[in-house]
Amino acid sequence: MGTRTAVGSFSGDPGRRASGREVLRLLAATSRPLAWATAVWAAAAAVAPAGVVVALGVVVGAVPAAAEHGLGSPDGHRLVVGLVVATVVYAFSLVLDPVGSAIGIAARTRITGALQGRLLRAVSQPVGVAHLEDADVLDRLARAEGRLTGMFPGDAPVTWAGSVATQASGWLACGVVALYQWWVGLVLLVMWVVVRRLMLRTVVVLATEHRGQTTAMRRAGYFAALGTRAAAAKEIRVFGLDGFVADRYGAEYGAALDSAVGGMRRLHRRALGCVVVVAVGIVGALLVIGADAHDVGLAALATLLPMLAVTMSAGSVTFDDLTVAWTMSGLPDVEGLERDLAREAAPPGGAREPAGLPRESIRFADVYFRYPGQDDDVLAGIDLELPAGTSTAVVGVNGAGKTTLVGLLSRLRDPVSGEVLVDGTDARELDPARWQRQVAVVPQEPVHYPATAYDNVAYGALAHLADADGVHAAAAQAGFAAVVETLPDGWDTVLSPELPGGVDLSGGQWQRLALARALFATRHGARVLVLDEPTAALDVRGEAEFYARFLEITAGLTTVVISHRFSTVRRADTICVLDGGRITERGSHDELVALGGTYAHMYEVQAARFRDGPPGRRDAGRPRRRAGGRR
Ligand SMILES: Nc1ncnc2c1ncn2[C@@H]1O[C@H](COP(=O)(O)OP(=O)(O)OP(=O)(O)O)[C@@H](O)[C@H]1O
Ligand SMILES: [Mg+2]
Repeated sequence: MGTRTAVGSFSGDPGRRASGREVLRLLAATSRPLAWATAVWAAAAAVAPAGVVVALGVVVGAVPAAAEHGLGSPDGHRLVVGLVVATVVYAFSLVLDPVGSAIGIAARTRITGALQGRLLRAVSQPVGVAHLEDADVLDRLARAEGRLTGMFPGDAPVTWAGSVATQASGWLACGVVALYQWWVGLVLLVMWVVVRRLMLRTVVVLATEHRGQTTAMRRAGYFAALGTRAAAAKEIRVFGLDGFVADRYGAEYGAALDSAVGGMRRLHRRALGCVVVVAVGIVGALLVIGADAHDVGLAALATLLPMLAVTMSAGSVTFDDLTVAWTMSGLPDVEGLERDLAREAAPPGGAREPAGLPRESIRFADVYFRYPGQDDDVLAGIDLELPAGTSTAVVGVNGAGKTTLVGLLSRLRDPVSGEVLVDGTDARELDPARWQRQVAVVPQEPVHYPATAYDNVAYGALAHLADADGVHAAAAQAGFAAVVETLPDGWDTVLSPELPGGVDLSGGQWQRLALARALFATRHGARVLVLDEPTAALDVRGEAEFYARFLEITAGLTTVVISHRFSTVRRADTICVLDGGRITERGSHDELVALGGTYAHMYEVQAARFRDGPPGRRDAGRPRRRAGGRR
């Protein structure tokens, strides 16, 4: 798969952690200079602490001779040179921290960008959208992105390299101690390695437990977003839910952290146990060196004693280790998602060219569908023919499955059984992405792209972004051109109040725009037009314009129109009633009214409301005298 070549690759076993070699490969694949910089920095960070101690030991060892013979003597020069060297080594060690941070930020920025790109491509692979409603996929996505914890997988390589460097500096210090007395160095090394292993096991358990809290963390994130996004915040204010949302966020976040609190306590208990062992080890080493103090000499003594402190790095466990444990377990999620979603994206068949289809019809043949994890069928044996070049209206109560039906038509979802046939060919045998380009949809809830008015229309056929005449014509047909005239920068107005200079549209204006977008798509090859409640948000004049243009808009297209407004529905060539998961009635408006079934009843209820006003308000149409008022 082409997308994997950009950065390294992992095997995606659930719960697996990436190895050090894998994260370094990831870094090298992202930027070779950064990989080299990280390696050089880590090597320097491993050597620097011991280097500082040795340099200072040499200085201290040179003091007595220099004091005795004066600074002008060769011994004095040796001391001065030693001091200069020690200063340089110390300054170098101080510089390593900011250098490491700079490398870490650069690496994180690049790797995060590359990983996010991979993730976006991965989740876009499947033809449908069911995976984006799958809690497991969303959990893996959140971990791979790292946004819930702020520990980004892009941090893994440099943090891991830093952690290895810290340990290596401890090993090196043990080596220096071993030069004095091999077994003292060895005992210290074994002690620190054992201590680190014990502590690290708890850290890994902590990270694993925290990983198990991803769903709770996502819930907390959902409440945080509710409170901070304008669209949701409006309703939250009106219903006085602000406090509730903040409390729920706190509760969900607290629940997600509970496992971490328990794990931290275990870590602290283990750390206390280790302190005893370490104290015995260090005091023992001090006693051994102390007993030898006269024989080893001042320089060695001044080196060995602080070096004991440096050996500690071999056993230290820091927050970086938690970051490493977490981020390295998030990295395999990236490839896991790529692999699993690629498998989902490649059902058998799916290569036939759909351009120009349908020429005869689209037919739902005994189609059953239920949403994943649900007990009931939404569609239970749909038989429905949509003759090419004609319009078919689908009516039914809320929740009847109308939107679900068009989801199957545009292959956002596939039937559980039965087939959607396009000119007799199972839609699953058609090239899925190209078939989706054949279907232009005005969704029930259109997307508000944070882009210019022009782009919002042109996104209907991205490959034809430059077709300004087409954009203007589609907008005129959809009644959106009049809206553009009122915008501060016309077609260049950004339609997002969250962006500088951006504005928002009204619900009905967005709906006109969505129609324009779909009509632009039909100008560039789409042969099927799906209108899911296209007039629900339009004012009376907008709706009337839509009826007047319905035949012009749908001419030559295979159109499915879903609406609760019978004035819209009756424009269609054929009307179908969706009830109980099946098509129960089919015919023209007059035929269905004459049939006296569900359609006739629904139509009569709506017509009566317009004719007579709501029940109990039979006089609603007549002018009324205000009580006590003058007319
Ligand atoms: N993503 C989903 N997961 C689970 N169930 C769903 C999902 N989307 C819809 N449903 C259920 O499927 C049924 C049909 O929904 P659908 O949106 O197709 O109805 P509809 O006929 O378009 O209704 P409306 O007139 O309100 O737009 C409903 O019972 C709904 O609760
Ligand atoms: Mg619907």
